[in-house]
Amino acid sequence: MARLVVVSNRVGVPDRSTRAGGLEVAIGPTLRRRGGLWFGWSGRVADGDPDPTKIADHDNVTYATIDLRKDDHQEFYNGFANRVLWPILHYRLDLAEFTRRDLGGYFRVNEFFARHLEKLLKPDDTIWVHDYHLIPLAKALRERGHANKIGFFIHIPFPPPEIVTALPNHDQLIPALCHYDLVGFQTEVDATNFSRYIANECGLSWAAGNAFHYGNRVVTIGTFPVGVETEAFSRLARRAIETTFVRDVLDSLSGRAMIIGVDRLDYSKGIPERMSAFERFLANFPDWRGKVTYLQITPRSRTDIAEYADIGRLVGEAVGRINGTYGEASWTPLRYINKAHSRTALAGLYRAARAGLVTPLRDGMNLVAKEFVAAQNPDDPGVLILSRFAGAAHECAAALLVNPYDPEGVAIAINRALAMPLEERRQRHAATYKVLVANDLSHWAERFMAALERPPNAANDWTQVRAAGIG
Ligand code: UDP
Ligand code: G6P
Repeated sequence: MARLVVVSNRVGVPDRSTRAGGLEVAIGPTLRRRGGLWFGWSGRVADGDPDPTKIADHDNVTYATIDLRKDDHQEFYNGFANRVLWPILHYRLDLAEFTRRDLGGYFRVNEFFARHLEKLLKPDDTIWVHDYHLIPLAKALRERGHANKIGFFIHIPFPPPEIVTALPNHDQLIPALCHYDLVGFQTEVDATNFSRYIANECGLSWAAGNAFHYGNRVVTIGTFPVGVETEAFSRLARRAIETTFVRDVLDSLSGRAMIIGVDRLDYSKGIPERMSAFERFLANFPDWRGKVTYLQITPRSRTDIAEYADIGRLVGEAVGRINGTYGEASWTPLRYINKAHSRTALAGLYRAARAGLVTPLRDGMNLVAKEFVAAQNPDDPGVLILSRFAGAAHECAAALLVNPYDPEGVAIAINRALAMPLEERRQRHAATYKVLVANDLSHWAERFMAALERPPNAANDWTQVRAAGIG
């Protein structure tokens, strides 16, 4: 079996810190199971020239991380990746702040990754690149002569070409995906949007199945909805509910029902909209006042970026308004916490909650939704209220699906979840849990790797593509 080399901007180096982010949560167990190399950013910003790649072995995995220079971090991470690609791919053209300088930094860091990664590569390695930070990485590697199998998986949405084409210089960036052998998406909708882009903007012709010709090569497109470790997470939750931490939280509720939300502080998660919905719920269903507590765990994210500071202010104002209006000396309706929590703590809290509120305006998948379901007690499960705009909505069709832009509709769903009869809760939970066991995290990784490692297509000859000057 070929060695697996995973490349992503964020690397889950084992240390004591608790971080939030679905990519890291998905790749960690996948790599530990198969073994291999995980290459990416160290999370540090170097003052001068960065140190050489740091290598550390742990649990079957070699972690190879590099620091970013200050200007690279600014233009690549705070700039193009998170102020242009992130908003546009989440359908938020209004928030994109494009500059040619940041685009230059983005390509420069991809070159920098390729230059450092190639020192560690063997010709028969299988390379799996993750997420929007690294779209041009395969092209940079191909230009350096690497003919390895290279797959790409994007954890976030891929919108219709009508939106993608609003990205200045999209024609320099998106076609770079054609240098991968396999391009994977979270949902059929994302994959179809990309196929439409390829057909409309690149005029490429289709090969058999979900594949298209690029020069004399064939590039395959696939749908691989990322999962969680459903059964292991369920076991973790069963243990975690007994911990002192969760017991203390439950004691502090004095018998009130708990609603939980867990999200990075990100505008894509729809947190202010969700809070308005909770406010509407308290206004429209007054019998619940004093009987329910909404716990929102929201670790700060990408704090150097203005739009993230803005959303932090908006959420803070909403919390103050709601608690000010509806709170009592003996009851705080909304508890808002910016600290990241361990997975054990989250598992226990999910299990203790009567409802999970997961209402992103747009999300590639949303692992919190799946973890919430995995953590429930099947005999007395809580109810998932889920945005129809999360990738997870396809597999969690038995959740209460809502439109996050409709606070009144979400308020009705909260009331319905809290009042739902046991038998209906059991049925909805069992239906979703079954789907999440069938498509758990290992299944996701195995399907992607099997598609990537299929016997080489005779047509896939990178030397000829370069000679033809395509891409
Ligand atoms: N998470 C965590 N601690 C926290 C908050 C979140 O470990 O305090 C984890 C959460 O359990 C989930 C991941 O971070 O596995 C978030 O993934 P998701 O797909 O929901 O959203 P993302 O942050 O990737 O957009
Ligand atoms: C999402 C993205 C990941 C990213 C994570 C945390 O899950 O898809 O690529 O790692 O958010 O964001 P951060 O900017 O802290 O890496």
